[in-house]
Amino acid sequence: MLNDIKTTLISEEEIKQTVKELGKKLTEDYAGKNVLLVTVLKGAVVFLADIMREIDLKCEIDFMVVSSYGSSTKTSGNVKIIKDVNIPLEGKDVIIIEDILDSGLTLNYIINMLKERNPNSIEICTLLDKPARRACEVKAKYIGKQVPDEFVVGYGLDFDEKYRNLPFIGVLKPEVYMK
Ligand code: IMP
Ligand code: MG
Repeated sequence: MLNDIKTTLISEEEIKQTVKELGKKLTEDYAGKNVLLVTVLKGAVVFLADIMREIDLKCEIDFMVVSSYGSSTKTSGNVKIIKDVNIPLEGKDVIIIEDILDSGLTLNYIINMLKERNPNSIEICTLLDKPARRACEVKAKYIGKQVPDEFVVGYGLDFDEKYRNLPFIGVLKPEVYMK
């Protein structure tokens, strides 16, 4: 697996530090609130597992499954809800836990859909932000790190469902996705 990686973009240690800081900020900002962490599978699952243990508040978690990517490296713009959130959102302070904000099309769709269910508040916490590729107006209040316009893998992020188990975030060798 490591042979397919061109460079390390964010090391294991840096990720740990970033997640810790985000968790601390959320703990401060959401004291006394009804926190519900909503995670979009599968990419953000590693981030959720780590950040929820850095949030020192009572909170709930729930999952969504959407599809916007096939096996290519570009978003299709078509967001399909495969699994919805089960917990009612009314009165909840929803934090969407995302792996990466890329075009923003996926999150834009999800946010608009969830807002109709009367949550008390809704914000985005994304580990990575790739602002160069934004195709619509989506604002994440909590951002871990900005990444350049390159396809990244690891720490939950996949290429063709692989590389999610890399403990760091790296860039694939072009020959891997040109295949
Ligand atoms: P968006 O709709 O373009 O913002 O893309 C949303 C989803 O695409 C993310 O949650 C990821 O699952 C996937 N994605 C976007 N960029 C990358 C990348 O560089 N590597 C791996 N997955 C990505
Ligand atoms: Mg993906």
